[in-house]
Amino acid sequence: MPISNNLEKEEVKDYFNGTGFDRWRRIYSKSEDVNTVQKNIRIGHQKTVDDVLDWIKDDPTFLKSSFCDAGCGVGSLSVPLLKLGINDIQVSDISASMIDETKLRIKRENLNSKKIKYKICDLENLSGSFDFVICLDVFIHYPQPVAEEMVKHLCSLTKSNLIVSFAPYTPFLAFLKSIGKLFPGPSKTTRAYTLREQGIIRAAKEQGFAVSRKKLNQAPFYFSKLIEFKKNN
Ligand SMILES: C[S@@+](CC[C@H](N)C(=O)[O-])C[C@H]1O[C@@H](n2cnc3c(N)ncnc32)[C@H](O)[C@@H]1O
Repeated sequence: MPISNNLEKEEVKDYFNGTGFDRWRRIYSKSEDVNTVQKNIRIGHQKTVDDVLDWIKDDPTFLKSSFCDAGCGVGSLSVPLLKLGINDIQVSDISASMIDETKLRIKRENLNSKKIKYKICDLENLSGSFDFVICLDVFIHYPQPVAEEMVKHLCSLTKSNLIVSFAPYTPFLAFLKSIGKLFPGPSKTTRAYTLREQGIIRAAKEQGFAVSRKKLNQAPFYFSKLIEFKKNN
């Protein structure tokens, strides 16, 4: 694991237990208390969540499957998944505040089940074996080599399906970022990294996974590449 990882992780954890918690809790909600950038992030992120739900529903056995939502945030994916009728899910995040919020949202929707496991845990320390491992918009906080190690670890947790999303590196986005238009303003977030898709795919390939679907979701200030991998037989 690259040495920078621990420092990076501590910063990210503090952010999502502090100022970032309140910011992202509002973004991932129906609150009117958001600015234009945050509203657009909400719109773009919802596209990502909706695509993941559609892809999962394509699997005729999904209701009986086990799920791992790694870096779950406030439960934007776990809550609708539970509403669809799945009940075997491990919900984890590096931030205790995020996990508390997810618990609250699941309880508020009367979706509690004995098969929901909550873990305050960074994704490299997760263990278990699941039918679906999903990790959405988490890698943006980490540089390429760290994100690739994370992909490899997530591969080790899934029996068949891995779905990840990340901000893709493109020369155009690199240009926007360089002039401060992609992630605007100081202290709006932790450092934000765009990642090279080929590196992410290579990391999964090395673990015996192949790309089955891809999609780019966009809204102003939101760019996210969604990739579904399947384990080779
Ligand atoms: C932008 S939010 C996305 C949340 C959620 N996946 C979603 O799409 O709604 C990023 C989340 O990743 C979590 N996170 C960041 N680094 C992590 C790590 N190393 N392990 C686990 N969770 C992490 C943060 O605490 C935060 O909740």
